[in-house]
Amino acid sequence: MQIAGKRVLVTGGASGLGAATVAELRAAGAEVRVLDRALGQDVLRDEDVTAGLAGGVDIVVNCAGVATAQRTVGREGPMALEDFARVMRVNVLGTFNVIRLAAAAMMENLGDEGGERGVIVNTASIAAFDGQIGQAAYAASKAAVAGMTLPLAREFARVGIRVVTIAPGLMDTAMLDGLPATVKGELGRTVPFPNRLGEAAEFARLVRHVVENSYLNGETIRLDGAIRLGPK
Ligand SMILES: NC(=O)c1ccc[n+]([C@@H]2O[C@H](COP(=O)([O-])OP(=O)(O)OC[C@H]3O[C@@H](n4cnc5c(N)ncnc54)[C@H](O)[C@@H]3O)[C@@H](O)[C@H]2O)c1
Repeated sequence: MQIAGKRVLVTGGASGLGAATVAELRAAGAEVRVLDRALGQDVLRDEDVTAGLAGGVDIVVNCAGVATAQRTVGREGPMALEDFARVMRVNVLGTFNVIRLAAAAMMENLGDEGGERGVIVNTASIAAFDGQIGQAAYAASKAAVAGMTLPLAREFARVGIRVVTIAPGLMDTAMLDGLPATVKGELGRTVPFPNRLGEAAEFARLVRHVVENSYLNGETIRLDGAIRLGPK
């Protein structure tokens, strides 16, 4: 799908990977809206999502997400079930909520000469495949996002809507801001090549490619400098 002039919604677009995606797609000539909790909106609230889709949509990029690190049984005893549920709500139900409403809106589009009516790009994580100790909730939520990609692409094939998921590795965003600079540096040195953290702009460039390359569909793409996470 060509990007210039297209209507885009980016969730989580106020920060990190989402903000870089907003900048990349705007630079490519798209009309981009942002839906972010930092702006008082929530992917779990239908009215916020519907407002973000008002006037139609061609491209949706789901970046809204939360990360946690907590052992299932820690020093204080078993993790609260609500902590697990909160991560699943935002990362799984939130992503799916935007997809279901966006896909319905995209079905109203006429479609281009190739029959394409829309593109949906989701954000999983390499934790979906190599989840570390303390990541049971986060890894399960991202595996769910990766897992819904193919059935959604298959369902929407007849209406010309593609669904692709990106699984980033260690990216230098606010999500890692809690870590001291030295720890960030050490993390970067664990990446085979390039030997550093990923940049949000590199994620944004992959989103752009996914949108522009109509043969990409139903797949989860790792963007990680060949890192495979160890147990901790
Ligand atoms: N940074 C990394 O290393 C990394 C790695 C793998 C995957 N990811 C995933 O990439 C996505 C973006 O992460 P980031 O690193 O840019 O983090 P970030 O914290 O900079 O951005 C996440 C944004 O999502 C928004 N958000 C959170 N809950 C929301 C909700 N319920 N409704 C609307 N907006 C909400 C936040 O306000 C924030 O602006 C997340 O899904 C994250 O899990 C990040």
